[in-house]
Amino acid sequence: MPSRPTAAIILAAGRSTRMVTDMPKVLHEVCGRPMLAYVVDACRAAGVQRIIAVVGYQKEQVIQAFANEPDIIWVEQTEQKGTGHAAMVCREALADFDGNVVVIAGDMPLLRSETLQLLVDTHKKQNCAVTLATAVLANPTGYGRIVRDEYGNLQGIVEESDCTDEQRRITEINPSYYCFDKGLLLSALDQLKPDNVKGEYYITDALHILVQQGHRVVAITAVKAEEAVGVNSRMQLADAGRIMQNRIQSNLMQNGVTIVDPPNTWIDIRAVIGQDSVIYPFSYIHGRVRIGKRCSIGPFAYLREGTVLEDDVVVGVFTELKNSTLGPGTRARHLSYIGDAHIGHRVNVGAGTIFSNFDGRQIQQAVVGDDVYIGNGAILVAPLAVSSGRQIAHGAVVRDGGPQNEGGAT
Ligand code: UD1
Ligand code: CA
Repeated sequence: MPSRPTAAIILAAGRSTRMVTDMPKVLHEVCGRPMLAYVVDACRAAGVQRIIAVVGYQKEQVIQAFANEPDIIWVEQTEQKGTGHAAMVCREALADFDGNVVVIAGDMPLLRSETLQLLVDTHKKQNCAVTLATAVLANPTGYGRIVRDEYGNLQGIVEESDCTDEQRRITEINPSYYCFDKGLLLSALDQLKPDNVKGEYYITDALHILVQQGHRVVAITAVKAEEAVGVNSRMQLADAGRIMQNRIQSNLMQNGVTIVDPPNTWIDIRAVIGQDSVIYPFSYIHGRVRIGKRCSIGPFAYLREGTVLEDDVVVGVFTELKNSTLGPGTRARHLSYIGDAHIGHRVNVGAGTIFSNFDGRQIQQAVVGDDVYIGNGAILVAPLAVSSGRQIAHGAVVRDGGPQNEGGAT
């Protein structure tokens, strides 16, 4: 039997009062990417064929941020009347779809595609109406609690604000990973009522409705505590960032990168670092940065968007790079700013060298050839080209483009 396709509804319309922000919550970044990007990627990696994202509050900004991902179907929820209501507005986007529908919150950057995959597989194997993946947390405060009967069968999910004292002590929570049969999801949504403390339509009530109607509803305790973090506040944003940073660094270390002091190093999820490179403490690597093999970075290095380091490059203490390439074997060991420069092989960038890339009106580029020696404290004023093999005196101010006019060069 051919496998039924899977669609995903990602809930991302909320305004998030708890974040205290003018931005859409799902655009807040975790290790360099918006939260929503992680959720979208996890859905894709888990084999979801149709991705529907529900947007509302500042929807233009959200859609704009994903302009390069035209396969996402955007659905507007004009008024945020709850997670169940957000799923209801997707009816049309699912009209020509037959299969299973994953419903998932957009504020869960830590979810893993493996967990989603397990959810979908279990749902298919056990032929469920709805399958839910749960987590057990030492501190369940703020999450919906999983209520089971004495045999362990799922009864429903109760929001913290609707919990009895006894229910509040339940430590099994709803991280909001669900997989529904499409037809049963739509019929359950039709029956939702906003009869709770907040007066909202809750997607969680759809499970209770299906249980009541005798459908097969299965809850698997499959979500690790860290994957359950939903980001509702700046504190949780920081928690998610820390956990994601650990993942990024573990991944790099497994691939042969030495990180001398992990808690005091920050590396963007988009960075790529080659084997046997060493990252010394207090280094901050932000944006799409590519580092080759056997490089030495830091301590206290700041690598920004568009930095490319070929193999065997040394970037040392208090050195900042942006939108620049350093060729193999090039060294910038101390106190430099290198912006918008393309530097060749085996160049010595002396202590305190500054690439002066902004003339007050626009950003200018510098090109430096191979085997150039730049003395300490030189200022290279872009636009500028320095030909291979040249030496630049200590303290020189090098102006004007063209190798024929390297003021201060010796
Ligand atoms: C929700 C769950 C709760 C679960 C928790 C996990 C419900 C009722 N509760 O609570 O059981 O433990 O997630 O993190 O589902 N959204 C919309 N439209 C709306 C309302 C919300 O798109 O009208 C979006 C939000 O932008 C957010 C997501 O849905 O991305 C979840 O909403 P949120 O308010 O964060 O729900 P929680 O209170 O965290
Ligand atoms: Ca949430």
